[in-house]
Amino acid sequence: KSVLLSIMEGLAKVGVPNEVLDFLFGWVEGGGVYRKIPEAKGSIKAIRSVAFFIPLYELYLTYGGIFRLTFGPKSFLIVSDPTIAKHILRDNSKAYSKGILAEILDFVMGKGLIPADGEIWRVRRRAIVPAFHQKYVAAMIDLFGQAADRLCQKLDAAASDGEDAEMESLFSRLTLDIIGKAVFNYDFDSLSNDTGIVEAVYTVLREAEDRSVAPIPVWDIPIWKDVSPRLRKVNAALKLINDTLDELIAICKRIVDEEDLQFHEEYMNEQDPSILHFLLASGDDVSSKQLRDDLMTMLIAGHETSAAVLTWTFYLLSTEPRVMSKLQEEVDSVLGDRCPTIEDMKKLKYTTRVINESLRLYPQPPVLIRRSLEDDVLGEYSIKRGEDIFISVWNLHRSPKLWDDADKFEPERWPLDGPNPNETNQSFKYLPFGGGPRKCVGDLFATYETVVALAMLVRRFNFQMAVGAPPVEMTTGATIHTTQGLKMTVTHRIKPPIVPSLQRSTLEVDSSISLS
Ligand code: HEM
Repeated sequence: KSVLLSIMEGLAKVGVPNEVLDFLFGWVEGGGVYRKIPEAKGSIKAIRSVAFFIPLYELYLTYGGIFRLTFGPKSFLIVSDPTIAKHILRDNSKAYSKGILAEILDFVMGKGLIPADGEIWRVRRRAIVPAFHQKYVAAMIDLFGQAADRLCQKLDAAASDGEDAEMESLFSRLTLDIIGKAVFNYDFDSLSNDTGIVEAVYTVLREAEDRSVAPIPVWDIPIWKDVSPRLRKVNAALKLINDTLDELIAICKRIVDEEDLQFHEEYMNEQDPSILHFLLASGDDVSSKQLRDDLMTMLIAGHETSAAVLTWTFYLLSTEPRVMSKLQEEVDSVLGDRCPTIEDMKKLKYTTRVINESLRLYPQPPVLIRRSLEDDVLGEYSIKRGEDIFISVWNLHRSPKLWDDADKFEPERWPLDGPNPNETNQSFKYLPFGGGPRKCVGDLFATYETVVALAMLVRRFNFQMAVGAPPVEMTTGATIHTTQGLKMTVTHRIKPPIVPSLQRSTLEVDSSISLS
């Protein structure tokens, strides 16, 4: 049977259609050489009661690296096998679309880079990736430092007044301020203010998260759209954000028109290094609606993900004082009392390992969503076109088959002198930023952003879970949130020794973290 399987896979790889393969090999007992995908029968109630990826983990331990989950007429394939994940994400990525995800996010991202498929995706990816060039990422380090410094000032006040801090919402505001400046040069200033636009962003985000776990798409019911106060609020919020984006695009267009700079590969306007400015200066020939969709996509993609990484990193550190001490030691000796520079990114090795390990234990998002566009072969199973697939990154990252002490927070599992772990050097068992052509475009940006924020905060403060803080439990939308926040007691550290500041040399970026 395994010889037949190899022959059949070989023929499938050279493009022999499935109908022909079925005809040639359909005589083998059991309905073909392919086995039937194990089937787990579920109740939607069980899945909705806790963060949905938790019951999927239990089912993975029972049914293995690929199984079918059926709810009444709906069925999903749950993939937790690195080889199959590699096949879907990289080797045969053309045969898969974003499926349900594109449907859920349509109201906010339209044809933006995350939901887009086919030609639109290809053209937009080609336009956007160059915007994340080395000079841009290096300039962002300063922005990360300034924003983290504003958060430090807030925590200074909390530490002096003896007030506990709810870190999850502070991180959400920190990363919103960063992404607004980085993507379209807009200062949300959400760490200080709660203006209408900040409120609007949160309304839209909450809606996107709710839709991603809702069993029935009520938002598609025609009359409901007009009468539901909630949907009316969402539409008003969307209008405010869209109007603001249109205005920013118009202002930026005027500046670019008056600019004298020649566009080149590492083009960057020092006053406004944003991605929007790069795209307009590059002569990106695109409709305003498409540009807005892309900006909105990056705003959402780069906001809650980074905030969630910081939240779970601080939670994990509160459980392992040993790791915190080691981290503070490194930060003291590398940074002393100054803001990080691009050169420091290479030196903050343990800090980076802490982020790598936090991303393993709390991947954001915990599942990747795809739909098959044609019949395909996944391992020893054949699948039909139109299958909805969840690749559970959570399961891959916590599998006892793939990791020693899978649930343990242990940054040391990644040697300091080894490469920065990524999907390729970890054979797709580690997918912090996805993999293949749809890999995150902001991977390096996000790694540096979280490293800078982490380093600056632990250099100045000690963090402990607040006395009487609610238990830290998980809930999920697109990323993993806590159910009741992350309440911490923040205390000033005794000032670390000041290390003389480094001269800025040539801009160098750690090449082991790939710019995809
Ligand atoms: C895609 C994770 C930050 C922009 C992705 C994907 C993952 C991911 C797993 C792949 C999704 C899939 O295959 O379905 C993260 C994490 C971040 C982060 C964990 C923070 C720690 C950012 C930032 C930006 C960004 C800062 C932009 C400034 C994007 C975009 C895509 C994407 C545009 C879609 C790429 C495509 O489909 O071609 N991200 N991301 N992300 N990310 Fe990120």
